Amino acid sequence: MNKVTWQSPSNIALVKYWGKYDNQIPANPSISFTLNASNTTTTLSWKEKEADDNFDFEVWFEGQLEDSFRPKIEAFFKRINHMLPFLKRFSFKIETSNTFPHSSGIASSASGLSALSLCLASLAQSLNIPHDEDFYRFASTLSRLGSGSASRSIFGNLVVWGKHLLIDGSSDNYATPLSSEVHQVFENFQDTILLVDKGEKQVSSTVGHGLMNDHPYASKRFEQASENLSKMKAILSSGDLDAFGNLVESEALTLHAMMMTSNPYFILMKPNTLRIIEEIWKFRKETKTPVYFTLDAGANVHMLFPEMVKNKVDTFTKSKLVGYCKNEEYICDQIGQGPKQL
Ligand code: DP6
Repeated sequence: MNKVTWQSPSNIALVKYWGKYDNQIPANPSISFTLNASNTTTTLSWKEKEADDNFDFEVWFEGQLEDSFRPKIEAFFKRINHMLPFLKRFSFKIETSNTFPHSSGIASSASGLSALSLCLASLAQSLNIPHDEDFYRFASTLSRLGSGSASRSIFGNLVVWGKHLLIDGSSDNYATPLSSEVHQVFENFQDTILLVDKGEKQVSSTVGHGLMNDHPYASKRFEQASENLSKMKAILSSGDLDAFGNLVESEALTLHAMMMTSNPYFILMKPNTLRIIEEIWKFRKETKTPVYFTLDAGANVHMLFPEMVKNKVDTFTKSKLVGYCKNEEYICDQIGQGPKQL
């Protein structure tokens, strides 16, 4: 069997993607930090088979055959079959593992689907399957078709996905690294992920995105996200941390407000999510430390801060926040350089 292995990170959005059209086209552009320590490693092995009438693959997760991942991967293969016309010619073995704890509530779809897409892009390259785009852009297009936010995990640092007039090279089809100037305060930016709830997601992101279709505030929200991306671009170059915090916290709360005002409505925050937010606000006010929160589609809190206040924030985490985390678990991560072929 031939094989290839990629390690790919998760990412955390600063301006959120929430709402999409057919074929995984985002309703608004988004920007994220690629993470460093929260990764999925995937090995794809393949051998040619006789008939080419169906997709043939096995999925192994942390050493165990895992059939629950099959429907997502089967749907992904169907969506990318036109780009990788050889898929039905091979039997695949997909072996995958995460650096973050199983069902930590950290979405593994961004890291998992980007790692698998990179493996498939490597296979396409080894077969000399012609495609017009460069390798990473092609991998990002594949990733988007697996999970929207996965398109951003293909690149390191700050990454934009979705067409935006002020972002050079931006596209709805794939993500692109932010090429404009970024202030040094964002170098090695930190993300401490406070694991509040480790359970299964109550609402899948696909269902959540779907609820934006008939959402009464959708069109205003999509406009606001584009405006927020323009603001974020300016903030990232000026290094204005207060403005950064104001915008990321507002984006996080707006994302959750969209969920609370959809029909059906839902609340993904837990009491401890709010307690942590209150502690962060109190600590910031009392100590003037630039520390901010963001949320993804779940109860966990991502605490964002510059490297220069790391010691202070680590002490705060241990003394005030750890008690609100399930089994006292949290992950110290930071901005990362993107996927690696192993
Ligand atoms: C709240 O990328 O998980 O994390 O495209 O349906 O797979 P699908 O959705 P997904 O949505 C992530 C939404 C978010 C915000 C973000 O990452 O931008």
